Amino acid sequence: MEVKTSLLDNMIGVGDMVLLEPLNEDSFIMNLRNRFDHNEIYTYIGSVVISMNPYRSLPIYTPQKVEEYRNRNFYELSPHIYALADEAYRSLRDQDKDQCILITGESGAGKTEASKLVMSYVAAVCGKGQEVNKVKEQLLQSNPVLEAFGNAKTMRNDNSSRFGKYMDIEFDFKGDPLGGVISNYLLEKSRVCKQPRGERNFHIFYQLLSGASDDTLMKLKLDRDFSKYNYLSLDSANVNGLDDAASFRTVRNAMQIVGFMEAEVQSVLELVAAVLKLGNIEFKPESRVNGFDESRVKDKNDLKEMCELLGIEQSVLERAFSYRTVEAKMEKMSTTLNVAQAYYARDALAKNLYSRLFSWLVTRINESIKAQAKTRHKVMGVLDIYGFEIFEEGDNSFEQFIINYCNEKLQQIFIELTLREEQEEYIREDIEWTNIEYFNNAVICDLIENNQNGILAMLDEECLRPGTVTDDTFLDKLNTICAEHQHFESRLNKNSKFLTDHSLPHSCFRIQHYAGKVLYRVEGFVDKNNDLLYRDLSQAMYKATHSLMRQLFPEGNPAKVNLKRPPTAGFQFKASVGVLMKNLQTKNPNYIRCIKPNDKKVAHIFTDSLVCHQVRYLGLVENVRVRRAGYAFRQPYESCLERYKMLCKKTWPQWRGPARDGVEVLLTDCSVPTEEFAYGRSKIFIRNPRTLFTLEERRRACLEDLATLIQKIYRGWKSRTHFLLLKKSQVVVAAWYRRYAQQNKYQKIKSATLVMQSFIRGWKARNILRQLKYEKRCKEAVTTIAAYWHGTQARRELRRLKEEARRKHAVAVIWAYWLGLQVRREYRKFFRANAGKKIYDFTIQRIMQKYFLGLKTTTMSPMDNTWPAKPYGFLEGAHTQLRRIFHLWRCKKYRGQFTEEKKAVYEEKLEASEIFKDKKALYPSSVSQPFKGDYLEIQKNPKYQKLNSAMEEKVLLADLVNKINRANGKGSPRLFLLTKSNFVLADQKTGQVKASVPLPDLASVSVSTQSDGFFALKLKEGSASASKGDFLLSSEHLIEIITKLHRIGTTAADRDQINIDISDEFLVQFKQDKVCVKFIQGGPKNGNSAACKRKNNRLLEVSVPSP
Ligand SMILES: Nc1ncnc2c1ncn2[C@@H]1O[C@H](COP(=O)(O)OP(=O)(O)OP(=O)(O)O)[C@@H](O)[C@H]1O
Ligand SMILES: [Mg+2]
Repeated sequence: MEVKTSLLDNMIGVGDMVLLEPLNEDSFIMNLRNRFDHNEIYTYIGSVVISMNPYRSLPIYTPQKVEEYRNRNFYELSPHIYALADEAYRSLRDQDKDQCILITGESGAGKTEASKLVMSYVAAVCGKGQEVNKVKEQLLQSNPVLEAFGNAKTMRNDNSSRFGKYMDIEFDFKGDPLGGVISNYLLEKSRVCKQPRGERNFHIFYQLLSGASDDTLMKLKLDRDFSKYNYLSLDSANVNGLDDAASFRTVRNAMQIVGFMEAEVQSVLELVAAVLKLGNIEFKPESRVNGFDESRVKDKNDLKEMCELLGIEQSVLERAFSYRTVEAKMEKMSTTLNVAQAYYARDALAKNLYSRLFSWLVTRINESIKAQAKTRHKVMGVLDIYGFEIFEEGDNSFEQFIINYCNEKLQQIFIELTLREEQEEYIREDIEWTNIEYFNNAVICDLIENNQNGILAMLDEECLRPGTVTDDTFLDKLNTICAEHQHFESRLNKNSKFLTDHSLPHSCFRIQHYAGKVLYRVEGFVDKNNDLLYRDLSQAMYKATHSLMRQLFPEGNPAKVNLKRPPTAGFQFKASVGVLMKNLQTKNPNYIRCIKPNDKKVAHIFTDSLVCHQVRYLGLVENVRVRRAGYAFRQPYESCLERYKMLCKKTWPQWRGPARDGVEVLLTDCSVPTEEFAYGRSKIFIRNPRTLFTLEERRRACLEDLATLIQKIYRGWKSRTHFLLLKKSQVVVAAWYRRYAQQNKYQKIKSATLVMQSFIRGWKARNILRQLKYEKRCKEAVTTIAAYWHGTQARRELRRLKEEARRKHAVAVIWAYWLGLQVRREYRKFFRANAGKKIYDFTIQRIMQKYFLGLKTTTMSPMDNTWPAKPYGFLEGAHTQLRRIFHLWRCKKYRGQFTEEKKAVYEEKLEASEIFKDKKALYPSSVSQPFKGDYLEIQKNPKYQKLNSAMEEKVLLADLVNKINRANGKGSPRLFLLTKSNFVLADQKTGQVKASVPLPDLASVSVSTQSDGFFALKLKEGSASASKGDFLLSSEHLIEIITKLHRIGTTAADRDQINIDISDEFLVQFKQDKVCVKFIQGGPKNGNSAACKRKNNRLLEVSVPSP
């Protein structure tokens, strides 16, 4: 539910000055101060907003604030500029009323900021969309451009607008912005040439020099150093908080957004540069024959650069600074300019150039932002113009006069529109119109603008008059013509009352403005009004090739020479103010009056005197009076009833009838005197704020009671609700607890039941088991008994059957014997006595025959071990003998086939078997190998021819052996030859005999029991060969070599048999030492062959692979 609030809620001081009691200047300022101290910078005078400059950013312009004020009634929330903007925007959108927002105030009071706040609020609340956003952006971005060219740092404001600005924003029927038109007033162009102490020239000059790239500056022939330019004051070139370089970028960006072409921007910057250059042109006097001084350009460099920049012929401009052509009645006369005139001309040119450039910028922006659609627009105008400007000590000049005139006009409009509005409202509401006492300033406006004898008209007259015209002649004129005017004061006035007024200097006149008296010094009035630019200069400018420059000086076109003087500044301003006033009159006005709280530009300081000054000159107290002229306060019946209904029992809490009747009942009940209010059609009008405050006071008291009541009811309700909640909770908790307790109990019973159940089931089961076991045992016993019984029965039956069978057999045998006996007895008489023996022999013979034929399957191979099984037990002895005899026989047969050599070989094999069988593990593998003897083929191989021929006897064995070196156990190959009488060891490669040992010197041979081929040939001690020591050799044909050696020993009658020693450890005599050769079983890692290793001086270890 939307809560209706009112401006009257939570007020600090009074939010609306109309309600101020008592109303006077002091209370007014006190109220402002009070509010300012509480950060309430906005205060209303009816629908007028007074805005105090806080000089710091307040958190009151957030998007949330925008939303808060959006679509709310003006008096609903505390005063804010947004409320005014919203009111204006809504009545423009919804009621189709064109609006204008008039923002006035001193320099630095916050007018420009206020105008931006209004524009940004409207931008935030109006429609959205791509096109609309573009328009909004362009409108908003026109501000930085105009501020750069039209604002400057002054003593009062670091960003002071040096021109008046009126901007019409145009909207379509939906309230979406379409475009805008900007009008500018009175640019303070004198600033271009000269700035007061502590102030600066227009921002753009500093921005250009600080922010432009080196390249741009070079193109513009400029130097970054401010001090190089006469027109730039240096004492405040850098302003705290202003970043000129960044601002320059902002301005360029804004120009781009607004729609300036790159070439246009360049042209504008060139003109700015030209102004700077112009300021640097200096003159020197040159005496002429006629005794007058003529000016000459001192240093032509800047002139040259400026001319290059603008495409002006240097000589033309130079001449324009030295001569002046005066045309009168078709005659042309050339007069020379002295130095002072030349400087005047230069400055006039600079000022004109800059102010025309500024106006061109406004026109150019207007071109971009103008509304495209041709339909009727709704318009919201925003006027940001100086308020009354009053300098102390009569330093007010032509500019202040003009500005104050403008403010007089605005005040007139204010009075006119406010009263008109008031009157209209009264008529609308059917309230009787009582004449309002107020000061009408039309008379002052008339003093200034009257076409016959107004001050401006007289100034123009004076300016156009032939003859010597000075400011003093102008003052004289005023003194004569305006002497009688009640608002004009001058010392030399005919009106004798000011003759002795020392506060009024002779060179001044004073005007009693509606807001107070202002003293103007006439000095410069004529010049400033004339605003003269020599035609030679405008013509020189027109000759420029720079197109923008030509555009700015159209009067320089020789084809359009116009001898008429251009309109004066005063005239122009009056005309434009006239247009503005007409424009404003057609619109619904909204006022923002800006006040600055102090001169120091700092927050939190409120200088009473300064504020008082502004309040006075803005005519704010006057504003309140006008506003309060009839009824101070009015409110729709509904809101009034809503707000105060609690004051009367009949209207509280609900009034059922029409709101007006309700208010009537209410006010009567409250005993408000009838003269204090009037009933309109839709509103109640309250004459005196005091009445309202009384109502407010009563309302507050009543609200307190109501609050107590509400509190009471609320507390009751809260406690009841709390109690009910507790009760409900208790039921829930109890239910849960009971459930929990029951569950627990149930669980216990359940588990107890289970235990009991299991016990009973166990007991039952055991019973059944026992029963079953018993039954099983019974069955088993029965089975056993039955089995025994059956067994007994069966055995009995078997015994019986056996007995029966025996008996039957016995019967059969007896029967057979009996029959045999019978048969024999029968046939005895038919057989001879020896027939039995013959049958027996025959049978034996047949059996033997069959047996021998069965032996025929046996083969003749002595190796065949098969022999048929014996067929009959009685043949057992014969069967064995036969087998032996048969084997011997077939061996004899086999031997009979042998040749002599083969026989010798077998004999050798036999001998080998005798020596080694079951003694050396190598033996079985040698059985199948034939003993070849000559493995080297010594007879045939030509390599051994020499060795062979060296052998005296037949070589029985020739083989390659390894001679083991005692030092390391490694073998070296040797040829081993054996003859009947000796053995020889020869070199393998050369065949040279290394050792030849007669066999008689060989004492014994030692070999191991294992599968290696090592053998030691041990020599007899004392023999001739023994000196070299024993030989430890190894050969693959060890069995053959040893067998052959042994055979030679057995066959030779002259020698002892060679001892063959088979053991795994034997001694070998190497020269002097005896070395033990030990054979051990090595692992398979040794590979297939045995390896000999020397372990120490006395031990050679041969590891033989395991079989
Ligand atoms: N509402 C505001 N909130 C915060 N600061 C403000 C506000 N209004 C004004 N100011 C401050 O005051 C300075 C002066 O304001 P502004 O330029 O609007 O004054 P002005 O009335 O336009 O003066 P001039 O007539 O010289 O142009 C601003 O630069 C800003 O720092
Ligand atoms: Mg301003």
